[in-house]
Amino acid sequence: MPQHRMALCKDHFLEWVPEQTARFIKKYWMFGPEERILVAVSGGKDSLSLWDILHRLGYHADGLYLCLGIDGGINYSTRSQQLTEKFACERGLTLHVVNVQEQTGRTIPQWNEINLRGREKPCSLCGLVKRHEMNRVARDLGYDVLATGHNLDDEASVLFGNTLNWSSDFLLRQGPVLAETPGLARKVKPLCRFYEREMTAYALLRGIEYIYEECPYAAGASSIYYKELLNQLENHRPGAKLAFYLKFLEARKSGFFAEREGVEDVELHPCLHCGQPTSAPELCSFCRMIKVGQVE
Ligand code: AMP
Ligand code: FES
Ligand code: ZN
Repeated sequence: MPQHRMALCKDHFLEWVPEQTARFIKKYWMFGPEERILVAVSGGKDSLSLWDILHRLGYHADGLYLCLGIDGGINYSTRSQQLTEKFACERGLTLHVVNVQEQTGRTIPQWNEINLRGREKPCSLCGLVKRHEMNRVARDLGYDVLATGHNLDDEASVLFGNTLNWSSDFLLRQGPVLAETPGLARKVKPLCRFYEREMTAYALLRGIEYIYEECPYAAGASSIYYKELLNQLENHRPGAKLAFYLKFLEARKSGFFAEREGVEDVELHPCLHCGQPTSAPELCSFCRMIKVGQVE
């Protein structure tokens, strides 16, 4: 691991990853030993590894799988659900499964077909549904915190995109922990300091069976292009990706983004239909999407 200037054998690497995760959980005040955690698991290497690590560390961590109904010629959703269910079953873990079609009336590709936004790929619409459903389940089932498997490459690529656009609202909120607010569960990213290749190594060495393919709609996404650019930088200067992310967190902590003169916080209120907070006057974006779909 040139970025850390160290090399570990298999056994020590498998110990090092959970130890570091435990350190990050404490350092960023993500959650305590008594709290109930809902891990959003996609069937990919990061979120399944996260669930494995939290379980090994002795946390009370249950899983949530959202079946999005994406096929893409590779049976994507069905296969990732099977791998997630197998993982949970083999370890005796509790997994909640939400089928988006049963919950909302349509799969993600079907929503994309009929919704006005759906001229392009369904990714932003899918993100909206995932955020809404993860929050709904975490709150309905009384979990203290929602954990996702975002790794350093994911976080650095989002940070790069937000910096290119100087998206101050997003820069203010991006980080390992998003505090709980009325109607919104606390969100944490315990793997945010691990390189993607470290998580791949962890999943493979631990013998976790995960879905190798990305979502079929991911090809061509700008986040993937940013990841490639950051990998080029990393090849040239090992550790640059981690420094980019950590120095951003430090800069924000020391108040770099604090002053936004003339910018007032957006006022949020509960959606009239689902109760989740929204800045829109009546319905949140999720409920509006479903309404538009039903009207057509
Ligand atoms: P992505 O947005 O696909 O990069 O995924 C980021 C994180 O969101 C993953 O590490 C998971 O924690 C979570 N996630 C993504 N897709 C799903 C899904 N279908 N069900 C549950 N969690 C998911
Ligand atoms: Fe939602 Fe790819 S995972 S569109
Ligand atoms: Zn709503």
